[in-house]
Parts: sequence; structure tokens; C-alpha cells
Amino acid sequence: MGLREDIASKRTAVGVIGLGYVGLPMALAAADAGFEVIGLEKERDKRMRLMQGEALYEGLDAKLLRELIAAGRFRVSGDPSDLNDCKVICACVPTPLSKNRDPDLSFVEEAAMQMEAAIRQGEKPKLVIIESTSYPGTTRDVVEPILVARGLKSCFDFHLAYSPERVDPGNKDWDISNTPRLIGGVNECCGNLAESFYSSFVNEIVRVSSPEVAETAKVLENIFRGVNIALVNELWMLCDRMGIDVWEVIRAAASKPFGFMPFWPGPGLGGHCIPVDPFYLAWKAREYDFQTEFIELAGKVNLNMPYFVADLVSREMNRSGKHLKGSRALVVGVAYKPNVGDTRETPATKLIELLRNREAEVIYHDPHVPTFEVEGITMQSVDLNEEVLAKCDCAVIVTAHSSVDYGMIARSGACVVDTRNVLGKSA
Ligand SMILES: NC(=O)c1ccc[n+]([C@@H]2O[C@H](COP(=O)([O-])OP(=O)(O)OC[C@H]3O[C@@H](n4cnc5c(N)ncnc54)[C@H](O)[C@@H]3O)[C@@H](O)[C@H]2O)c1
Repeated sequence: MGLREDIASKRTAVGVIGLGYVGLPMALAAADAGFEVIGLEKERDKRMRLMQGEALYEGLDAKLLRELIAAGRFRVSGDPSDLNDCKVICACVPTPLSKNRDPDLSFVEEAAMQMEAAIRQGEKPKLVIIESTSYPGTTRDVVEPILVARGLKSCFDFHLAYSPERVDPGNKDWDISNTPRLIGGVNECCGNLAESFYSSFVNEIVRVSSPEVAETAKVLENIFRGVNIALVNELWMLCDRMGIDVWEVIRAAASKPFGFMPFWPGPGLGGHCIPVDPFYLAWKAREYDFQTEFIELAGKVNLNMPYFVADLVSREMNRSGKHLKGSRALVVGVAYKPNVGDTRETPATKLIELLRNREAEVIYHDPHVPTFEVEGITMQSVDLNEEVLAKCDCAVIVTAHSSVDYGMIARSGACVVDTRNVLGKSA
């Protein structure tokens, strides 16, 4: 029986390298579909928590996790040699930027080496898939050379495809099963095998002609958001100067039923994707003597937003006859998006730093983030109640978590800067 039949009948173990926001839901979806899944995770603490049945991320089903572990369909491992028995291996490892804001592919390279070590010449081939977001060419020019370095042959010993994850943690409407899945195989046979694998737990597959198309499409999705958010952020700064409510403007424009899609301003970008991934393409473009102006400009505008918000706080304090210096500022929400506890790249970090630089004492409240570190200082989320608010001079709403009582903040008498328009009027 060939690999295709093994996949179709789920008679194969699946290895998932990296059990983060992307890898863990994918591993559980594959296990739930009937595969035996081994999740390779290098962080010991994550492995221990998972083995105890903790779902780790918002929106993940802890009951399902425990059932899959109990049924022997999902196992967590720290030993890369466990990948030897897997016929399908997916890499869901981080793709951060280096200190100089260049792509850091060290995690992808390490995963490729682990994949290579698990493939045996002469045995049935394995299907290896990269899910991490990266620049076009990563699968073919970075991963494949590692796989073939010691004599393995593409389409004989392994099949290689790129299939970007589009998960939106915390999104209740769109999950792995109903979000269409892009697949670009290095060769036709690789794409076909990847398609039969993902078809087991994804409703709609979108095949593209190459990994490069899928890689570029994935970064385009993130660039699209980054550029449009920058556009409305810039408009917010202008509207603020002109005394126009930018949220009302965007709502008005969005009443046009075609040709317009609303994006909303905010205190800056956050998360592992939008502030990072566009720069993977910008970096690659330089190899072709090409400047990606939109990416750079959007990055510049979005990076400036915490500074703009800090200025708004100073201005609002002045207007009410107070000074930021020596005041107590409450930051409401430090996660980068509503209803999750993910603080990666959150603009709250820069904003707190700026408020501290202006000699405010900063405290925060976030129902999803019990502790938060800024400039080496670990802060603890304060309770949100009238007593705490009475001792605050200003409050900055950074994240629009749905469980927060914004009315209480508005009534408190503190100066409020509302970067998410949760109070229904511009800041
Ligand atoms: N978070 C998102 O919403 C999202 C959405 C779509 C795409 N992506 C992309 O998916 C990729 C993964 O992102 P994430 O958010 O899941 O990252 P993450 O940091 O949450 O998880 C990655 C995990 O991989 C583990 N890891 C790294 N190298 C390993 C190795 N060699 N062996 C075993 N474990 C290893 C890390 O310990 C970590 O737990 C990135 O390229 C990201 O850009 C993320």
C-alpha cells in the first residue's frame, strides 16, 4: 500500500513539530479526524501542561484534548526520534524577526533537520509540510536543500509541500475545518498527497501551482491587513487634528455595499503575524533590488501609534487641568486583540514604556493576562472596581475585551482615552 492509501485510510502516524497557536489546533484536528498524532514540543513546561490536559490557548477544547490523549490518538513528545514512525510531518514553528528585523529561519531549519533525520532511504516516502509563514522560496530554497543534503531524493524518499495556517485564535466563526486551506506542492505528486491529508479535516482545499504562490499569498493576507490598518490609523491622526470622529467616518463609508471593507484604527499592531510577516517579503524583495514601499510605510505608521496615543493621554490630562507627570494611569487591556491573552508584540508594551517615560505611574487591568512584563518590571493585573478607578487620573483603553465594564470606567471621572471606540465616541 502506498503513502496515498495510508493517508486516505488514516493508517499513518502524523508528527507535528511545534505545539503553539498553530501546531496545537492542527494536531488536535488531525487526531480528531482519526490519525494518530505525535506532537513534538521543545518547551518542557508546555509538554507537561498539555499532558495534564490543559488546552493552553483560548478556544481550544480541553475536553477533546483529554479524550484524544486517553484514546492514544494524541501524544506529546520532546524526542525528535519519535518522528521516525510518522509518515506525515508538519512543521508549525515560529518565524520571528532577528534583532536587525531580518527573517530568522533558525526554527524552520531546525525542524527541516528533524524531518530529514526521520526519513529513511528505501522505506516508504514521507510527506513533509511547512505551515510556518515565510517569504517565497523558503520551502524550495531553504527546506528542500536540508532534506536532500545527505542523499535523500524528492518524490522518492519524501514529498514536500507548503500549506500556510490561517488560524485566528479566539475566532468562534472560523476554525481549521471551515477556513479554506492553500496548498502548493514542490511537485504535482507532493501537492496531491498534501491535499489528501488536509482533506481529512478541512472542508475546502485551494490548490496553487507552487509553494512560492502559497507562501506569497500568505504574506499578502497579512500585508493587506497591515496596510489597511495603517491607512485608517493615519486617517485617525488627521481626523483627530480636524475634530472629526474617524469611527463615524469609517462606519459611514462602510455603508457602501461594494468596493469598501472597513478596517478600524487602534493603538498599534500586535500578534505574531501582522507586525512581523510583511517584513519577510520586504527582506526578500531587496534581493531583487526592489523596495516594498507600502510595507515600509505601513510599518512606520503603525509603529508610531503608541506615540500618538501617549500624546493623546497627555493632551486629555492637560485639558482637565492635570499633568501626566506624577499621575496614575490605568491601561485597560494589554493583549493585542480582544478576548484572548496573547501579548506577543502588543502595542501596550510601548505605550506603558512611553507613559512611564513621562513619569506616570502605570497600572493595568486585563482579565486574560494576570501578569505582564515591561522593561523588566513584572506587573500584576489590578481588579477593575470603583475604588481602583477612584485612584486613577486617566485610563487608556487599549484592548476591547468584551467582559470589561467600560461604563464604570466612563463614569469614574478619570480622563479616558478610548483607542478602540468602545465608548462609542472618538478619543
Ligand atoms: N499565531 C497565529 O495566529 C498564526 C496564524 C497563522 C500563521 N502563523 C504562523 O505559524 C507559525 C507558528 O506560529 P505560532 O503562533 O504557532 O508560534 P508559537 O510560538 O505559538 O508556537 C511555536 C512552538 O514551536 C515550538 N518549537 C519551535 N521549534 C521547535 C522544534 N524544533 N521542535 C519542537 N518544538 C519546536 C516552540 O517551543 C513553540 O511552542 C509562524 O510562522 C507564524 O507566523 C501564526
